Amino acid sequence: MSTQVYLAQARASLNSQDCMALYDKWAATYNDEVGDDAQDYVAPVLVAQVALKSSNNPARSVILDAGCGTGLVGQALATSGVKAIDGLDLSNPMLTVARKTGAYRNLAQADLTRRIEKADNTYDIVTCVGTFTAGHVGPDPALRELVRVTKRNGIVIATILEEIWVSGGFKSEVEKLKRENLVTVVSDELIDYVKGHGDKAVLVVLEKVDRAWTT
Ligand SMILES: C[S@@+](CC[C@H](N)C(=O)[O-])C[C@H]1O[C@@H](n2cnc3c(N)ncnc32)[C@H](O)[C@@H]1O
Repeated sequence: MSTQVYLAQARASLNSQDCMALYDKWAATYNDEVGDDAQDYVAPVLVAQVALKSSNNPARSVILDAGCGTGLVGQALATSGVKAIDGLDLSNPMLTVARKTGAYRNLAQADLTRRIEKADNTYDIVTCVGTFTAGHVGPDPALRELVRVTKRNGIVIATILEEIWVSGGFKSEVEKLKRENLVTVVSDELIDYVKGHGDKAVLVVLEKVDRAWTT
């Protein structure tokens, strides 16, 4: 199948099981089709650059890459010297490819539509690229969970496909987290996500507030 067919099918998934089955099948060819070779899936490198800029000491940052897939974000971070990167994803075959990169400290299967099995205030930075997409993971509880596992004054950096930013409830969930004084919105700009296909996404950067209450 081509990237466009895989993407269309992934975005049309009706539940996590369908989505997982699709990525289980796609894992072996995903990198060749969307990664460096194709030169048009720019989101992972963009997000890694934002993460590196937001840290005073990237080499000592502890980072969670949620929905890590085959590890494109982790690889971009590791190349710049980040050592402690954990990854979570629903698809074991995607995690197997990520493991082979050697970029991650720890990788585990997890469903981001549920509570994340990590303690509050664990990570300096949390990234989530390409996973807030139609047919994948919705805003609630995932955004709140990403904030919960982030340290106070830490940063959550996520891409959300433009077409679901408002209609999928992501914008209103971010506003809710802000109203609850859990985060400040550092930025929410539109970026080129997959250049070749004209896809755009909102790149949202949230800072967890100092006194954030979470559980
Ligand atoms: C487009 S890929 C992005 C992967 C990687 N972040 C990247 O940028 O290449 C979407 C990823 O979301 C994962 N995913 C989909 N639904 C998920 C869920 N409910 N929980 C965790 N991961 C999920 C898929 O397995 C897939 O690896």
